[in-house]
Amino acid sequence: MNFVFPGKTALVTGASSGIGSHYARAFAARGTNLVVVARRTDKLEALASDLRKKNGIDVTILSQDLSESGAAAAIEQALLDREITVDVLVNNAGFGTNARLVDEDRARLRTEIALNVGTLVDLTAAFLPGMVARDSGVVVNIASTSAYQPVPGMAVYAATKAFVLSFTEAVWGETRDTGVRVFAVSPGATDTEFFDVAGWQSPGRRVPASDVVDVTLAAINARKSVPSVVVGARNRVTSSLVKFVPRKTVIALAGSIFLPRG
Ligand SMILES: NC(=O)c1ccc[n+]([C@@H]2O[C@H](COP(=O)([O-])OP(=O)(O)OC[C@H]3O[C@@H](n4cnc5c(N)ncnc54)[C@H](OP(=O)(O)O)[C@@H]3O)[C@@H](O)[C@H]2O)c1
Repeated sequence: MNFVFPGKTALVTGASSGIGSHYARAFAARGTNLVVVARRTDKLEALASDLRKKNGIDVTILSQDLSESGAAAAIEQALLDREITVDVLVNNAGFGTNARLVDEDRARLRTEIALNVGTLVDLTAAFLPGMVARDSGVVVNIASTSAYQPVPGMAVYAATKAFVLSFTEAVWGETRDTGVRVFAVSPGATDTEFFDVAGWQSPGRRVPASDVVDVTLAAINARKSVPSVVVGARNRVTSSLVKFVPRKTVIALAGSIFLPRG
């Protein structure tokens, strides 16, 4: 596919920090107008004013808690009111929780599922029909390497990302013969606010968020459409090999990394 970025509009959720802000910067640098969504309006405003100045693009800010029911409908209505068409949707907003299930806050788990899964499905279902009708568009759903196996210590988070991967690959199967490219992106440990929010001090190496964006941009314009991409050579090998290792071993290994000590 040869997706032409200048003059198009990309909606990026979770653009106030981390991977989402890098997506916003990368699209802006290609002349793509933006709709940026998150809760921290001050961060979105700072990003928008920088990108308008540097890149001369239009940036629409929508301050929205995406874990609320009706969040996707509110965004859809706000864009209808402004007569903005979404050409690229990046469902990036999400967070993780790192604890044994018995120690988790149940309300926080529901928020995690509502954000990582519920609103991601709602937004995809809201904007995909228009893209299919126009026979053009891109939907990128952010999964994770944790989607490829159960993760003791992040049971709910990994399950939400397994949902994102399965859901997105299925929708890829439904749209592969159209001009719309739908795929999931699975980053491994990436240097963002994610670990602070999850309350987990990962000792491992983290890649820059720009790596996630580079892999995504390559997949958008690759000759062949793929249902999903994994960020990083080592993560690609691990996520493939996991299918051939006994399930109990995989779960024990994941637990040895993610289960909180003590
Ligand atoms: N970093 C990693 O190692 C890693 C690895 C694999 C996958 N991922 C995935 O990558 C995506 C981006 O995360 P990140 O690493 O960039 O972390 P981050 O820096 O914490 O960014 C998360 C973004 O999501 C937004 N967000 C969180 N809760 C929200 C809510 N209720 N409503 C609206 N927006 C909300 C945050 O904005 P506000 O706080 O302003 O609302 C922020 O912009 C997530 O889906 C995450 O699961 C991350």
